[in-house]
Amino acid sequence: MITVNTKLVALLGTPLKHSLSPAMHNRAYKEMGLDYCYLPVEVNAKNLATVFNAIKKMNFAGCNVTLPHKVAIINLLDELDPLAAAIGAVNTVQFRDGKAKGFNTDSEGFLRSLKTEGCITPSGKRFLIFGSGGAARAIAFTLAREKAARITLCNRTEKKAITLAAEINKEIRSCADTISIKRTIASGYAAEADVLINTTSLGMPPKDSAMPCPKSAICSHHTVMDIVYHPYKTAFLQEAEKRGAKIVHGLGMLVWQGAAAFSLFTGKKPAIAAMRKEALQMLSV
Ligand code: ATR
Repeated sequence: MITVNTKLVALLGTPLKHSLSPAMHNRAYKEMGLDYCYLPVEVNAKNLATVFNAIKKMNFAGCNVTLPHKVAIINLLDELDPLAAAIGAVNTVQFRDGKAKGFNTDSEGFLRSLKTEGCITPSGKRFLIFGSGGAARAIAFTLAREKAARITLCNRTEKKAITLAAEINKEIRSCADTISIKRTIASGYAAEADVLINTTSLGMPPKDSAMPCPKSAICSHHTVMDIVYHPYKTAFLQEAEKRGAKIVHGLGMLVWQGAAAFSLFTGKKPAIAAMRKEALQMLSV
């Protein structure tokens, strides 16, 4: 039952209709007997500051922030975690002693999934990342900090990839470069990578059959990761599996980023298995 003692957590963004986060978090609270409630709160850019400043003064432990507010929220915070500052995006805010501190748990979510589901430690490995948007930023910065040997960015808009690679090389260490899709295919460059990661929206409905690169770029020695989690097994992952590569579903990163946020809100380790089960049920897997 929700009472005045119940701690609240909000998800701020729009649209939120397809978000799995409320169900995942609420399932974990129930499983652990915690008096918490996670609420989806649709808010547009115009009202973000009003809503955020209001919940900060209420009985909220914090909030998750999703599209399109992951960058705009930074101006409303009192404190910023250094990694979130480097990435330039916040997806989790913790309220404590009247102050709001921003974090980026996509970074930890990605890393935990890569290590746990992919059995990969980034140090010394070569990564080829498709896309250079917000998700690619979190992933590429994380890999650079974790001492990846090489991070190559391949994006439809090449200029964005070049800018991101330059930022990584300047702020973390010199390990990032870029390649065009055409050159990736023609030169067989992808074969030199250990891990391929899709961070674009290709593979999501209505582009279910789209892939970030041609099939021929995928080799059996690759670990192939997709951050798209709906459908559970994207066209990219299906093709990778057919070609003998190891695959890592996007659902893993979603669950682990939620788990990291859960700990920031409650101070406790979450019931991961329950969160994963709930997410899989929501996707009808
Ligand atoms: P997110 O925060 O989820 O990463 P984003 O910042 O909008 O979202 O980034 C989306 C990424 O998917 C970008 O790299 C985008 O490429 P552009 O920079 O060229 O826009 C990529 N993307 C989206 N639709 C694409 C498409 N049809 N073909 C190739 N890349 C696409």
